[in-house]
Amino acid sequence: MALWAMGDFHLAFSVDKPMEVFDPIWKNHEKKIQKYVTKCVKDTDTIVITGDHSWGRNLEECETDLKFIEELPGRKILLRGNHDMFWDAKKTARLNDSFEGRLQFLQNNYYNYGDYALVGTKGYCYEGKDSIEHFLKIREREGERLRISFDKAKADGYSKFIMFLHYPPTTIGEQESPFTQMAEEYGVAQVIYSHCHGRERYDDSFKGEVNGIMYRLVSSDYLKFRPERIL
Ligand SMILES: [Fe+2]
Ligand SMILES: [Fe+2]
Repeated sequence: MALWAMGDFHLAFSVDKPMEVFDPIWKNHEKKIQKYVTKCVKDTDTIVITGDHSWGRNLEECETDLKFIEELPGRKILLRGNHDMFWDAKKTARLNDSFEGRLQFLQNNYYNYGDYALVGTKGYCYEGKDSIEHFLKIREREGERLRISFDKAKADGYSKFIMFLHYPPTTIGEQESPFTQMAEEYGVAQVIYSHCHGRERYDDSFKGEVNGIMYRLVSSDYLKFRPERIL
């Protein structure tokens, strides 16, 4: 039994969105994902996929992409990324009902892995694309969603946590954020995030141990499409 993570599959089986325009590393990236996930992840393992699953704009356009994820080995837990238009955060329970036994969607809930609770939300950091007011509003809402995830796990008796975010936990230059503070408050063992693509973004936030917490970047291109073993 092992816990794995990787994010940002950016699949596009039903829409025209070639990823290699951003970097040649993305050429046939879905084949690399399939190859390495199948090689690493056993049927008894769990893999958390940290958002940006599909370029499809609705569930219909994402169908083939989600099917691709479904057919990968192991238990698949999905986190919401900024490009996951098919996933209305408020309707996560409905997604969990329709994909029961196939995919699990992590939002305002938690999943267990041994004696760990896997908690998470999309998160947010400032990328200069919106006003400070909007950034603060989204970050606060994401903080509330993360706390719901933690508190549900805590109420069920969990005291060991692995925390998943789509966005990096800090904005460039920050030494801490509401997300790192919450990770420290609940005593999480690891914080896993993705979203950052390309060499110039890989050092946007924490990697390695900070204040006793292990931070890991698991963007698929950063990992060269090989899932990262978390536990
Ligand atoms: Fe992404
Ligand atoms: Fe993203």
